[in-house]
Amino acid sequence: MNINGKKALILGIANKHSIAYGIAKTLSEQGAELAISYAVPTLAKRVLPIAEELGIDMVYECDLSKDNDIKNMMSLIAEVWDHIDFIVHSVAFAPSSDLNIPFHHTSRHGFLTAMDISVYSLLAVSREAEMLLRPGSSIITLTYYGAQKVVPNYGVMGIAKSALEATVRYLAYSLGEKGIRVNAISAGPIRTLSSSAIGGIAQMQRRIEKSAPLSRNIEQEDVAKTALYLLSDLASGVTGDIIFVDAGISIMAY
Ligand SMILES: NC(=O)c1ccc[n+]([C@@H]2O[C@H](COP(=O)([O-])OP(=O)(O)OC[C@H]3O[C@@H](n4cnc5c(N)ncnc54)[C@H](O)[C@@H]3O)[C@@H](O)[C@H]2O)c1
Repeated sequence: MNINGKKALILGIANKHSIAYGIAKTLSEQGAELAISYAVPTLAKRVLPIAEELGIDMVYECDLSKDNDIKNMMSLIAEVWDHIDFIVHSVAFAPSSDLNIPFHHTSRHGFLTAMDISVYSLLAVSREAEMLLRPGSSIITLTYYGAQKVVPNYGVMGIAKSALEATVRYLAYSLGEKGIRVNAISAGPIRTLSSSAIGGIAQMQRRIEKSAPLSRNIEQEDVAKTALYLLSDLASGVTGDIIFVDAGISIMAY
């Protein structure tokens, strides 16, 4: 596998704990050229030092709930790159008032926001990037087991992740005729800015240590290595798939 010089757009670095940061670091170590974006101006103070550390010049502010932001980012990228090989979509959001509550209390606003930022953004990015994607280009996103089974406190994000997994399949189909692959990694719980908003993650991690086949929790690097596989030509025949990187906990009944 050689990804030297491959052009990767990475969405979703908020800080060094972000899953997207682990993926960016691994891709950069393997010689990929990176472009990154961050959601809001307040994140610049964390993201710009990361760009400097990884030698990234292409850094864009882009709120993925805004079509114009996505269009502008793609136009700016097109001024520098004539194509994109990899897109990493590592983005999710739900209002905190709609998490850790009885699911049937979820607000309409919270539901639509979670779907917009955590699901529709993958579709919007794929569409706006289409002119730069070419046969062999690969897109990945991040999902979680709460899409398939009930995880207490995950609520509306579980619905969003189910929709995201279906979106991966439909995108894999609609982009497949152009030779573009779309897959998801279903990661086990890792402490990040986003996951801290879900109550009970520490208990979950303690349970996983006891019950998972590998008797441990996963780390950023575990996800990054699978991302490298899925993005690279090693996964040339894989599309529309969800790969679990969760130390095996999802195979256990109890
Ligand atoms: N941490 C976990 O336990 C875990 C497990 C499985 C899946 N995931 C998924 O991994 C992905 C990355 O999350 P993370 O855990 O690294 O947390 P994180 O908070 O570091 O990353 C989430 C990112 O989404 C970005 N984002 C939110 N709203 C946005 C918007 N409007 N426009 C652009 N970006 C926006 C945030 O700025 C942040 O960079 C998410 O999809 C999350 O659901 C996380």
